Amino acid sequence: MSTRQSSDPIMVIPQHVAIIMDGNGRWAEQRGLPRLAGHRAGTENLRKIIEECINLEIKYLTIYAFSTENWQRPPEEVSGLMALLENMLDRELKSLHKNGVRIRHLGHCAGVNKRLVQKISEAVELTSGNSSLVLNVAFNYGGRDEMVRAVKRIISDGLSSAEVTEELISNYLYTAGQPDPDLIIRTSGEYRISNFLVWQSAYSEWYFTPALWPDFNEKELHQALVFFGSRERRFGQVSAQIG
Ligand code: IPE
Ligand code: IPE
Ligand code: MG
Repeated sequence: MSTRQSSDPIMVIPQHVAIIMDGNGRWAEQRGLPRLAGHRAGTENLRKIIEECINLEIKYLTIYAFSTENWQRPPEEVSGLMALLENMLDRELKSLHKNGVRIRHLGHCAGVNKRLVQKISEAVELTSGNSSLVLNVAFNYGGRDEMVRAVKRIISDGLSSAEVTEELISNYLYTAGQPDPDLIIRTSGEYRISNFLVWQSAYSEWYFTPALWPDFNEKELHQALVFFGSRERRFGQVSAQIG
C-alpha cells in the first residue's frame, strides 16, 4: 500500500479494489433512454476507471459485471448485456493487453453462449503473462454459488474434514492466490452486498456513493481512496495494537 498526496487530502492506494458497478438502468431512465443505453455508458466508463487504476498502481481490480441473479432480468436485457461484454472484449482486448492488464474470470460459464465463453477464455489466455493490473471480471458470478462449487470440489478431491481450513477454502475460490479486496465500492446509493465476494469481503472497507456507475469518474475514485485512507483497519484488534 502506498500513499499519494493529491491536492489536499491523502489518498491511500490499496492493493485490491472491487467495484459493484450499479445504477446503469437508473442513469438511462433519468435520460428517457432504454436501460441498455445505460449499460453501454457504464462500459465506456469502465475503460476510464481501469486506466486510472493502472495510473494509480492498484494491483487488483475486481468488477461485478453480471451476477448469477441477473439472469432473472428480461431476456432482451440479458442478451444485450452479453452482447456488450462481447463487444467490449472485441474492442478493448488489444489495448488492455498492451497496457499489461491480466484478465481473470470470476464465475462459471454454464448458460453462457459458446462464442462468448470462447472469447473470455482467449482473453484470459492472451493476457496471462501480464502483471501491471489483474482485472477480475465477475461475470455469471455469485458468492454463494462460488462457495457451493468450492465445497463440491473439496469433497470430490477427497479431502478430510481435518484438512478443511480457511486457507484451503480460499484456495478453492475463483480468487485463489489473490489478496482479499481492501476496498469495495458500490455506486448508486444501494447499501447491500448482492452476493458479491461473500467470503473475500470479510474484512474489506466499504465505500458507498450515490453516483450512478456511468457518472463514477476518476474524481469519484479519488474520493473513495481518500475515504479508504481515513479508515483504521483493526482486524479485531484494538487501536493501540495497530502500528
Ligand atoms: C448495474 O446496473 C449493471 C448490472 C447489474 C449488470 P443496473 O442495471 O443494476 O442499474 P439499476 O440498478 O437498475 O439502476
Ligand atoms: C449487482 O447489482 C450486480 C451487478 C452490479 C452486476 P444488482 O442491481 O443486480 O443488485 P440488486 O438486485 O439491486 O441487489
Ligand atoms: Mg442495480
